Amino acid sequence: FRLRPVAGLLSSRDFLAGLAFRVFHSTQYIRHGSKPTYTPEPDVCHELLGHVPLFADHSFAQFSQEIGLASLGAPDEYIEKLATVYWFTVEFGLCKQGSAIKAYGAGLLSSFGELKYCKTDTPKLQPFDPEKTSLQKYPITEYQPVYFVAESFEDAKEKVGKFAATIPRPFSVRYNPYTQSIEVLDNTQQLSNLAGCIHSELGKLCEALKKLE
Ligand SMILES: [Fe+2]
Repeated sequence: FRLRPVAGLLSSRDFLAGLAFRVFHSTQYIRHGSKPTYTPEPDVCHELLGHVPLFADHSFAQFSQEIGLASLGAPDEYIEKLATVYWFTVEFGLCKQGSAIKAYGAGLLSSFGELKYCKTDTPKLQPFDPEKTSLQKYPITEYQPVYFVAESFEDAKEKVGKFAATIPRPFSVRYNPYTQSIEVLDNTQQLSNLAGCIHSELGKLCEALKKLE
């Protein structure tokens, strides 16, 4: 993932599209010194303390990109749903780790105040389910009344993948890491290229497995 500076608020469609290309649009200004524990708007503390460390986690980075890929060419109503899923995961997500529930959302990691609050009995905790999560309303200038708890990043990624498959669009997309571009899988040539890539990767896998025997 790369950070790209942005001067103001992007539309949900533009912001999510960036994630598909492994680009995270980032603010550069800093919160007011009189309110260090919470900021209603993202600031550079939020970006650098909240978002950046998690992009170093392979599984989480992929999860973020999945949401972005799902947004490409999606109808407006689904962009809103994906933006809501993003809000309750990447921004304010909680996740199980063993028997503990931990915060991973950047909005929580960059807000000392809300981080303490989310572990109190006041907010409601619900299991992460994109179908339901995507319909949840939320305030943007105060602590969240509801949080969604994922079983794991892998589980959340799988659920978002299944949810994305229900988005009506006439094509599938794939990120090509070699060219850092998006391929639209809507013709036999593209599918045959993809099959070639999978074949080559499988060859490497088989070779490595043999060496382990
Ligand atoms: Fe954020």
